[in-house]
Amino acid sequence: MVEDCSLANKEFFGTKPHKRYPVVLRTVVLTMVMISSVYICSISLKQNGFMIYPNVMRMKVMNEPCQYPDIPAYELPYIHYPEPTTYARDECYCTPVRYFAILSMQRSGSGWFETLLNSHINISSNGEIFSVKERRSNISTIVATLDKVYNLDWYSSASKNECTGAVGFKWMLNQGLMKNHEGIVEYFQSKGVSAIFLLRRNLLRRWVSILANSHDRDAKQLNGTHKAHVHSRHEADILASFKPIIDVKKLILDIKQTSKWSTDALQYFNGTRNIVLYYEDLIRNRTKVMDVLSFLRLPHKELNSRHVKIHTRPLSDHIENWDVVFKSLKGTEFEGFLHADDGK
Ligand SMILES: *[C@@H]1O[C@H](CO)[C@@H](O)[C@H](O)[C@H]1NC(C)=O
Ligand SMILES: *[C@@H]1O[C@H](CO)[C@@H](O)[C@H](O)[C@H]1NC(C)=O
Ligand SMILES: *[C@@H]1O[C@H](CO)[C@@H](O)[C@H](O)[C@H]1NC(C)=O
Ligand SMILES: *[C@@H]1O[C@H](CO)[C@@H](O)[C@H](O)[C@H]1NC(C)=O
Ligand SMILES: *[C@@H]1O[C@H](CO)[C@@H](O)[C@H](O)[C@H]1NC(C)=O
Repeated sequence: MVEDCSLANKEFFGTKPHKRYPVVLRTVVLTMVMISSVYICSISLKQNGFMIYPNVMRMKVMNEPCQYPDIPAYELPYIHYPEPTTYARDECYCTPVRYFAILSMQRSGSGWFETLLNSHINISSNGEIFSVKERRSNISTIVATLDKVYNLDWYSSASKNECTGAVGFKWMLNQGLMKNHEGIVEYFQSKGVSAIFLLRRNLLRRWVSILANSHDRDAKQLNGTHKAHVHSRHEADILASFKPIIDVKKLILDIKQTSKWSTDALQYFNGTRNIVLYYEDLIRNRTKVMDVLSFLRLPHKELNSRHVKIHTRPLSDHIENWDVVFKSLKGTEFEGFLHADDGK
């Protein structure tokens, strides 16, 4: 309101009139407009209950703090009332918001999982925002990005804006998360961010998915476009028809590295509020995903995703050199990966 008034005044005082009216008429009109604009401003300021300091014209909006006495004290560090800079939360001003981050690794079902969450009316999960290198350059750029997301100022197709009840995004462990874990854990703890781990048990199936996805990046099997996720069985079958030849040495290295990263990450975030989910468990038991809604203290609703699983057959059908892989893993600690399906 005050801004409007001073803007109007600036225009009257600061710019020259473009047309030449008689001086007297101009002065009269100018004076009348000034008097009425000052009058209107002062009336509307008084009516809206702003406090006016006579000389500086500063004002302060007197907001009631949002408080829900029925929220137990131990929950308080995890609820927030963000005030976005880009819009007003309007009637949801006092809807509490919880902060979360889905911590995962590539080809572990996190794309599917995130679309499930986003089908809930109260959840905004903003995608893989740290896939952009500049945002993860160092802890300062990471914190600045997190601040923007958690203040509800991040715009993405998932944004539900003013009425969001839980806001977050998807973060791969290799996107600056492990490298900057100390600063990130500190941020999560001080801001009350909850970690949702989504891990995959069968690291052989994960490796097949990585190789197939990487093949499609070049081969672009679906009408000349690369797709990491598909929405129809037909497309899924086309992508699954590629059978990778697996270099067993590389496979074992990846399995070891991936296991170590999961273990380390779970340890780093042990002191942070968290839930650990496995892709296979979510597929096997469709009710399991409700655990996330309970964790985020949101009402249970049916969740949907259009994603269609790509590799659904026994692994022997998805690996070109199955005999070699089978012989190499048999009798090792990784033997279980050969037999387990994804829990269907
Ligand atoms: C962090 O990275 C940004 C962007 O790459 C750079 O501008 C900034 O100087 C860096 N800050 C520190 C503390 O290294
Ligand atoms: C969920 O969203 C609806 C519609 O915007 C809103 O009325 C309700 O308060 C929200 N609930 C929570 C727990 O955020
Ligand atoms: C794209 O490819 C699918 C099969 O992968 C086919 O059914 C569809 O007609 C194609 N669409 C276009 C526009 O070429
Ligand atoms: C987390 O910490 C608790 C006790 O502080 C410990 O018992 C547990 O094993 C730890 N978990 C992990 C994954 O490090
Ligand atoms: C499925 O998951 C839900 C939620 O975690 C659990 O209560 C239920 O026991 C599970 N069902 C089976 C068959 O494991």
